[in-house]
Amino acid sequence: MHVTVERTDCTEFTTPLLAVNLFQGEAEPEGPVASLDEKLGGEIRRLLERGDFRGREGETAVLYPRDEAIFAERVLLVGLGKREELDAERLRRAAATAVKGAAKLRLSRLASIMHHAEMGTEELTPHRAAQSAAEGAVLAAYRYTETKSDPEDPDEKPVAVEAFSLLEKIEDKARILEQGVTVGAALARGENLSRELGNLPGNVATPTYLAETAERIARDTGMKATILGRSELEAEGMKALLAVAQGTDEEPKLIVLEHRGGSEGERPLVLVGKGLTFDAGGISIKPSQSMELMKFDMCGGAAVLGAMQAVGELGVPANVIGVVPASENLLSGSAMKPGDVIGSHLGKTIEVINTDAEGRLILADALSYVRRFDPRAVIDVATLTGACGIALGKHALGLMGNDEGLIDEIRGAGDRSGERAWPLPMFQEYRKQIDSDYADIKNSGGRPAGTITAGWFLREFVGDFPWAHLDIAGVAWGDGDLSYQSKGATGIPTRLFLEWLLARA
Ligand code: BES
Ligand code: MN
Ligand code: ZN
Repeated sequence: MHVTVERTDCTEFTTPLLAVNLFQGEAEPEGPVASLDEKLGGEIRRLLERGDFRGREGETAVLYPRDEAIFAERVLLVGLGKREELDAERLRRAAATAVKGAAKLRLSRLASIMHHAEMGTEELTPHRAAQSAAEGAVLAAYRYTETKSDPEDPDEKPVAVEAFSLLEKIEDKARILEQGVTVGAALARGENLSRELGNLPGNVATPTYLAETAERIARDTGMKATILGRSELEAEGMKALLAVAQGTDEEPKLIVLEHRGGSEGERPLVLVGKGLTFDAGGISIKPSQSMELMKFDMCGGAAVLGAMQAVGELGVPANVIGVVPASENLLSGSAMKPGDVIGSHLGKTIEVINTDAEGRLILADALSYVRRFDPRAVIDVATLTGACGIALGKHALGLMGNDEGLIDEIRGAGDRSGERAWPLPMFQEYRKQIDSDYADIKNSGGRPAGTITAGWFLREFVGDFPWAHLDIAGVAWGDGDLSYQSKGATGIPTRLFLEWLLARA
């Protein structure tokens, strides 16, 4: 999907579909929509008067202009909801609704206007409005097809929407919109890569496949990729990651991508993502019901790779490092067992109470590994605990950390991206739930506050730098409820990461 800005009036642009957003409950078209309506002979106004289109969020209507009235073959009205509720998320959803409307009409191109960009509130600048529309459009165009055959009947084949043009004839405005579009499209393409990696089955998206994807990103963007396989991991002393990987034949990997966009010697911002490509639970095996969903257990790692691609594409002016510990968690005669005491990269010993609490083991080693970069800040992300999905459901990421300033920054980035994170308390009292009688720490604190004790476990392996942890167990995949989503992996928090990095850079 290509998003562009065209310097023209919306009535003069040749397109199969012109999408126009309208607020809820406003009978009188305004500004550019008023002049469009005039050329349409008052059709929009009549539709509004009859009450056939009310502008509620997600509502759509198609108009067919008479020949030569305008250059668009169709006009798609898209409801924006109430004017006072307008925000970036509404624009994201409206652009997505327009793209899905085009797909439904079997059209591969559409255009739209950014008339609300005029409003220029502090949060919703024209730049931000264009960015949001580009995000919504590119995200909505994503479909998973990789492991499906084409339908026999070509009419059954969904149409790929390939071009979305924002129309703006005033040069200064067009240039600002263009900058917003560049950012939004890159963020959404990164998020779509995360989704694709998440959606690919576990027999395709193996640790090796994730490593090859990282190498491809490095080639495309000029980053440095470092991949550690089993023998390098042994030499490095990544004992907790290797303990998880000892139950599978699939080679584990530690994937490191380094983007040097800042000055030399500037301390890097580091992203760490859980890349558990299939989680059967190990000897503490999971129930088979819905176990197939555990292919999504690498979505944290996928978000880091998607974010690194966007970082490279945009040339973010900061040093940014992405790290993905990747493994399967299976069962075999060589698998770790409950009660085993294992080592770790940091040196602490860990009693494995539950082999299904494996994410924190591989992340512990990755968090210890990144000390060598002397990070300015580290954020890790993981589908870490089912408990987080119970606590916060589908609408928020669990957020913890050792630095209030960083936690606030992440909440801000979450609000801007629509990938909202909400803090959970790391009270010291929770820490003793992971005291062990046989090791320095144990890997499960039981059911109470399972998300927080997992956070505490990670914290025990964090060096002397600001750190935050995002638990995405509730949000990493879904039914495609929002207009810019589709069933399967969401790609969250790829765009949150970029919002944070861009604010920091
Ligand atoms: N990958 C799972 C967490 C998960 C569960 C994510 C459901 C998404 C949906 C993780 O490795 C896990 O199994 N966690 C255990 C921890 C427990 C054994 C302490 C859990 O949440 O039950
Ligand atoms: Mn598990
Ligand atoms: Zn897991």
